[in-house]
Amino acid sequence: MLSYRTLIASLLGASALCGTASASNAQTDKIAPKVFIVSMFEPEAEAWWNIPEFNLLAHNITVPGLSTTYPDVHCTDDYDVCQLVTGEAEINAAATVMAVAFSPLFNLTQTYFLAAGIGGVNPKRVTTGSATFARYAVQVALQYEIDLRELPHNYSTGYIPYGARYPDQYPSLIYGTEVFELNADLRQIAANFARRANLSDSALAKTYRTNYKTSSGIYKAATLPPTIVECDVATSDVYYSGHYLATAFENTTKVLTNGTGDYCSSAQEDNATLEVLMRSSLSKLTDFARIIVMRTASDFDRPYPGASAIYNLIDSDQGGFEPALENIYRAGIHVVQGILKGWNTTFAAGVKPNNYIGDIFGSLGGTPDFGPGADQSLEESGAYKKRSLNRFTRR
Ligand SMILES: *[C@@H]1O[C@H](CO)[C@@H](O)[C@H](O)[C@H]1NC(C)=O
Ligand SMILES: *[C@@H]1O[C@H](CO)[C@@H](O)[C@H](O)[C@H]1NC(C)=O
Ligand SMILES: *[C@@H]1O[C@H](CO)[C@@H](O)[C@H](O)[C@H]1NC(C)=O
Ligand SMILES: *[C@@H]1O[C@H](CO)[C@@H](O)[C@H](O)[C@H]1NC(C)=O
Ligand SMILES: *[C@@H]1O[C@H](CO)[C@@H](O)[C@H](O)[C@H]1NC(C)=O
Ligand SMILES: *[C@@H]1O[C@H](CO)[C@@H](O)[C@H](O)[C@H]1NC(C)=O
Ligand SMILES: *[C@@H]1O[C@H](CO)[C@@H](O)[C@H](O)[C@H]1NC(C)=O
Ligand SMILES: *[C@@H]1O[C@H](CO)[C@@H](O)[C@H](O)[C@H]1NC(C)=O
Repeated sequence: MLSYRTLIASLLGASALCGTASASNAQTDKIAPKVFIVSMFEPEAEAWWNIPEFNLLAHNITVPGLSTTYPDVHCTDDYDVCQLVTGEAEINAAATVMAVAFSPLFNLTQTYFLAAGIGGVNPKRVTTGSATFARYAVQVALQYEIDLRELPHNYSTGYIPYGARYPDQYPSLIYGTEVFELNADLRQIAANFARRANLSDSALAKTYRTNYKTSSGIYKAATLPPTIVECDVATSDVYYSGHYLATAFENTTKVLTNGTGDYCSSAQEDNATLEVLMRSSLSKLTDFARIIVMRTASDFDRPYPGASAIYNLIDSDQGGFEPALENIYRAGIHVVQGILKGWNTTFAAGVKPNNYIGDIFGSLGGTPDFGPGADQSLEESGAYKKRSLNRFTRR
């Protein structure tokens, strides 16, 4: 998600190239990639370009509704692998994925989506350079916020779930995008493919990590070399840093997932992408059981003991940005190739999830293993009756 916004600004030269889409789905003339890589900004996209395995720039297909910065979908010569670039944060992610998922140019019914970006990480769970694979994506900042200075002293954070009074309560007003649960069996297969990778690291990242050594060992994971970790992602347009917010959102993840969620990485897009893929799956255009969310660790979400939050966010050079970008490719390529090589035997038919997948409403069927239950959630979302206007006059 984070760093190097300025770098992006300087990279804006949008490609104006159009490609003509030739047939991949023989009868219908639609492009039917086996894997669709979802990148969020130029450096994440470039991590997949000029690699020996395939050329994603063989076809550039301009799709109406994409961002002006990233107007094209890129595909390999045989259209087996394609890539879209959303632009950063939730609005861009939702709008771009919507345009692609509902585009008549594609047939995505059997396509695997690999959302692959960098993110900030929780030093209690992972270190910089690592690649994380999520089961839950939680929209953590979808809450009320009151500045802590205007709250009683016993509040641990200014973020309060919708319809609640205290931070640790389950929200009683539901928007429906709070939590998405993905195919845990597919996640494990993808993580195991990624474990074949020799992850990149940097001298600076190695040195910086040692700052997280403590006598309690609470940040032991942060001090170790990069690895592949199965843990969950928080989505927020607010790019947060520091102990209080990181812990508050760690807590939010626990509350919203009824204790199952294991917060380890942060991003600005994943829930938006997932909400769209949930809707397109409802329309039978995509398969929600075929989504993988991978985030490689570019920086820590909170400072090491003794350092300040502003230092962590702005002044520190943690050495994780370059390896995180490189590891999108190094870890991700094994996932893509694993799916391509196992297409006929496994992936064309799909990996059947054994866990609940989807949103808090149970939109895709099944019973959510988080939240107050489908009926109650729909009630609290106002789907059954208008929201009580005496409590809330907005939205
Ligand atoms: C596709 O666009 C990229 C730049 O984004 C360019 O480098 C590449 O040559 C283009 N491919 C084709 C086939 O025009
Ligand atoms: C999409 O692809 C699937 C699998 O190949 C095929 O069964 C289906 O008919 C295609 N649908 C359209 C609308 O092209
Ligand atoms: C804060 O203290 C008040 C009593 O002064 C209590 O009613 C409330 O539950 C406490 N709030 C939290 C967030 O613990
Ligand atoms: C974001 O998506 C994750 C699943 O990927 C889900 O667990 C989480 O609840 C979502 N959060 C919000 C606030 O939408
Ligand atoms: C892993 O990569 C490092 C450098 O990035 C290299 O020195 C090392 O030989 C590689 N190991 C294997 C097993 O490929
Ligand atoms: C997170 O939850 C723990 C345990 O309930 C609590 O002690 C802590 O104050 C919370 N932190 C924040 C920032 O809300
Ligand atoms: C999968 O099956 C197709 C059609 O039978 C065949 O052309 C292709 O080579 C097979 N792919 C692999 C990886 O075995
Ligand atoms: C999740 O937690 C909430 C609040 O504690 C509770 O009402 C709900 O029944 C729980 N849901 C599940 C599926 O356990």
